[in-house]
Amino acid sequence: MKRVDDFRLRLGGRELVPIVIGGMGVDISTADLALEAARLGGVGHISDAMIGAVADRHFGTKFVKDKLRQYKFNVANSDKSVVRFDPGQVAEATRLHVGRAMERKRGDGLILVNCMEKLTMNAPRETLRARLRAALDAGIDGITLAAGLHLGSFAMIEDHPRFRDASLGIIVSSLRALQLFLKKIARTGRLPDYVVIEGPLAGGHLGFGMDWANYDLATIAAEIRRYLVAEKLDIPLIPAGGIFTGGDAVGFLENGAAAVQVATRFTVTRECGLPDEVKQKYFQATEDDIEVNMVSPTGYPMRMLSASPAIGAGVRPNCEAYGYLLDGSGHCSYAASYNREVAAHPDARRVSVKDKTCLCTQMRNFDLWTCGHNAHRLKDTSHRLADGSYRLLTAEHVFRDYQFSAGGEIALPE
Ligand SMILES: Cc1cc2nc3c(=O)[nH]c(=O)nc-3n(C[C@H](O)[C@H](O)[C@H](O)COP(=O)(O)O)c2cc1C
Repeated sequence: MKRVDDFRLRLGGRELVPIVIGGMGVDISTADLALEAARLGGVGHISDAMIGAVADRHFGTKFVKDKLRQYKFNVANSDKSVVRFDPGQVAEATRLHVGRAMERKRGDGLILVNCMEKLTMNAPRETLRARLRAALDAGIDGITLAAGLHLGSFAMIEDHPRFRDASLGIIVSSLRALQLFLKKIARTGRLPDYVVIEGPLAGGHLGFGMDWANYDLATIAAEIRRYLVAEKLDIPLIPAGGIFTGGDAVGFLENGAAAVQVATRFTVTRECGLPDEVKQKYFQATEDDIEVNMVSPTGYPMRMLSASPAIGAGVRPNCEAYGYLLDGSGHCSYAASYNREVAAHPDARRVSVKDKTCLCTQMRNFDLWTCGHNAHRLKDTSHRLADGSYRLLTAEHVFRDYQFSAGGEIALPE
């Protein structure tokens, strides 16, 4: 029976173990987690979501405080259009986060940055440009373009000296999205180096509607593969979403995938950025505890534990400090929902906002517990201790389990 280790991914001029740990914002896929993947010969991701807050947490900078001080006068104002990011600061925070991770990198693997277009930051083009270019400046091995169509992203970096040497890939959930992207970037004379195909069972935001259950990763992957073969395009394909065991991964690799991208299994590792008590919630989850809903202000469905404190909370929007979801005219659908509830309950000390959540605040505080569909199986990946909690795993253990386990086996920790 084959194992993942019988296959190799060729990317960035290297031969890699074909396991990619997907980006998990905000700081859930930490540099420590990505560094382990790289050390073990695979591919890790850091994420540049809420980069100012992440830099402050790790490097003692004051990006969030300084921005809040600058826009404090606007806190009570429902119009957030004046709240802007300084692209220079965005670049500085990115360079710190990426640069420090790359300095610490050991081993033969790669570290990529997950860059979500949907973080529009009240000036989508300017801020995305700053993020992409700063990541390249800081020596990142490559960039995975995520959450969005990214029709203009290649053009933003085509004059960068590393445009051709860095590994650039995109996440899509349909052949149509890939076709649009390929058409748009044709002018730059450069194909993506890899395409992650994210199916409906993934964690985070979904590239489907609420009818996600009607789709299937293997079918989408086969359709994209047929198209690329017909067009004579040789681009490594990396399926993602619901791949829970080494055996699941082998199934995709035998059908022509170059690697697999996985994430949920790593949420219960020591290196993952979630607080330990939240990791226990992931371990304990049953299938009924997991829902896909529309509370994210991005407009995409998102999968999460129903017990997430983020659902139904009514915090005042923190756009002056954060504001990562503000569109190009200073609107966020959470802020609109919050203002509606405040107007409807003028005497309430607190409101509850049911239809949207303040994604920035909730992700920053690890109160939105996003997970893949198979999170309910995490309890089968570790030992339950006498006090009822589960033993946390190491990233190395989970990585090696994917790499070496055959069939549907899952190796338990020693
Ligand atoms: C906690 C968590 C956070 C995630 N955050 C992001 C993100 O910020 N950007 C992104 O492109 N994908 C995100 N994802 C999706 C993963 O990168 C990955 O593609 C997917 O979850 C793989 O499926 P699996 O979790 O079933 O293994 C997230 C997934 C999880 C579990």
